[in-house]
Amino acid sequence: MCGIIGYIGEREAVSIILEGLKRLEYRGYDSAGIGILKEGKLSILKCKGRISYLQTLLEKKQISARIGIGHTRWATHGEPSSRNAHPHSDFSRHIAVVHNGIIENYQELRKQLEKEGVRFTSETDSEIVPNLIKKFYEGDLRKALRKVIKILRGSYALGIISVDEPDKIIAIRNDSPLIIALGKKENFIASDIPAILAYTRKVIYLNNGEIAVVGKDDVEILDKRGRKVAVSPEKVSFNIELAQKKGFKDFMLKEIYEQPSVLSRILSQYVKDNRIDFKTSGISPSLLKSIKEVVIIACGTAFHAGLVGRYLLETFSRLPVWAELGSEFRYRHPVIGKKTLVIAISQSGETADTLAGVREAKRRGARVISICNVLGSSLIRESEAYLYTYAGPEISVASTKAYTAQLTLLYLFSLYLARVKEKISAEQSKKVISYLKKIPQAQRKVLEREAEIKEIARKHLHFGAFLYLGRGVNFPTALEGALKLKELSYIPAEGYAAGEMKHGPIALIDEYRAVVCIANDSPLYEKMFSNIQEIIARRGKIIAIASEGNEQIKRLIKEVIFIPSVEPLLSPLLTVVPLQLLAYYLASLKGYDVDKPRNLAKSVTVE
Ligand code: F6R
Repeated sequence: MCGIIGYIGEREAVSIILEGLKRLEYRGYDSAGIGILKEGKLSILKCKGRISYLQTLLEKKQISARIGIGHTRWATHGEPSSRNAHPHSDFSRHIAVVHNGIIENYQELRKQLEKEGVRFTSETDSEIVPNLIKKFYEGDLRKALRKVIKILRGSYALGIISVDEPDKIIAIRNDSPLIIALGKKENFIASDIPAILAYTRKVIYLNNGEIAVVGKDDVEILDKRGRKVAVSPEKVSFNIELAQKKGFKDFMLKEIYEQPSVLSRILSQYVKDNRIDFKTSGISPSLLKSIKEVVIIACGTAFHAGLVGRYLLETFSRLPVWAELGSEFRYRHPVIGKKTLVIAISQSGETADTLAGVREAKRRGARVISICNVLGSSLIRESEAYLYTYAGPEISVASTKAYTAQLTLLYLFSLYLARVKEKISAEQSKKVISYLKKIPQAQRKVLEREAEIKEIARKHLHFGAFLYLGRGVNFPTALEGALKLKELSYIPAEGYAAGEMKHGPIALIDEYRAVVCIANDSPLYEKMFSNIQEIIARRGKIIAIASEGNEQIKRLIKEVIFIPSVEPLLSPLLTVVPLQLLAYYLASLKGYDVDKPRNLAKSVTVE
């Protein structure tokens, strides 16, 4: 949420910052701004709306500089407007700051500063930061910042420039992500890697409380007390290509299509000679031997992956398993302890609610491992061990490839745990792995139906509401299908366990409601088929997901998306794909920006 970038070097800062902001736009897109230093002056340009508006403004002004900071915003305090956009400066316009996060005690600090004569121009929590730095400034920005952070409460990643020290950008992070990227005679700060990939792959992941002093030729990292910290930069494993659309209309469509290769990549990383190899993850068999229960913590789509994971872990390892929403878990006084294994799932590794859940779990003595797509993220650093999802950067706000990547790791982990606990044989594990290996090809077959799914979406554009029904391991798929639809197309959609229909939701069925029924081959198929008949009897309009060769459904329902028949327990890796495409087309045919749905942002770093 909110994207930050900063540049110092010998090239044109404005265009580099603008390009970086475009690559960070998925983190927020209600307003944007840029601040530069030139000839002893600070200039700030900002506006409401997308980066493209900012670009038009900048083209008119034709400003240029060698140092600057930029920001793309997802509003928390204060409506989207140009005055609430970042950068914010102190009242004397010496210092400019971009901020990602929330300053929780900003009201009391603002009152105090107002008493001291500071006039504020925005409604944001962020504007207190440049004013506090100014208040404490005695010729050294670093020292002033150290004083400021002693009184700030909340989460922040900050990028700071000042006319008094025009040869550096100062940056700090506390519970909001920030990287420092190293080039030749140029350096960068950024919220996320895609912003800097066009220039360098050498990065430093800042730790909480560390201050970075970023000059053109050197970078210094200081701890809370101002002592130098020795750091070795890391090399980012993916390149700029992975963060581009590569001929697809949107990132979302590209990412849907990447799913078969992501799944194959995960298998090639973690399966050796048909055996699961988690050596690189830090997961030790002795840790797993000691645990008696599993709690999965996640939010949104990752939570839906967790719900599938619950079926898998219970099926294979025979341990009790719960899947919990991060935002609820931490406030529930959960009964967990050192025999509890917590699996935190997150694409970004920065979701504030998931992280809060993890911290609560650790406080109560639980052991924490994570499934995550961002190396160097807060979640990975706070976990005892982690399974990296190898999905590459997920740019579209709606999660697709990260979801099936998380599922794949959950299959592998469930088998691994079951083997450690001696609940399944090596042969059983091999068999499931052999089924998993067939999934990428089956996913490709589903993707071949894109045109058909687009046509079904076109026919359903006028429906005012959708219901998604699934059973067993595909109940979470129904929840995920409904989430994809509502977040992209703004059509009200609900996911339900099909068996729950008769306990209430059946009252909703009429000819104006579309009902998406997941009816693939499974031990629960007959029950699902009965539910379908109940819906037809009430004139509900059905779109069915069924296994190829199902003549019964073909005879009964006009709109059927056929998918290859796979082992039922593995079907969530397949059934979700047509639902992703359906949501994609229901939104894009309505003319919506599928990569950046309204009110949303990727990487939800506020609670
Ligand atoms: C929905 C979506 C969100 C995220 C959720 C958690 O398409 O993307 O629901 O799944 O915000 O994000 P991560 O996985 O980064 O923790």
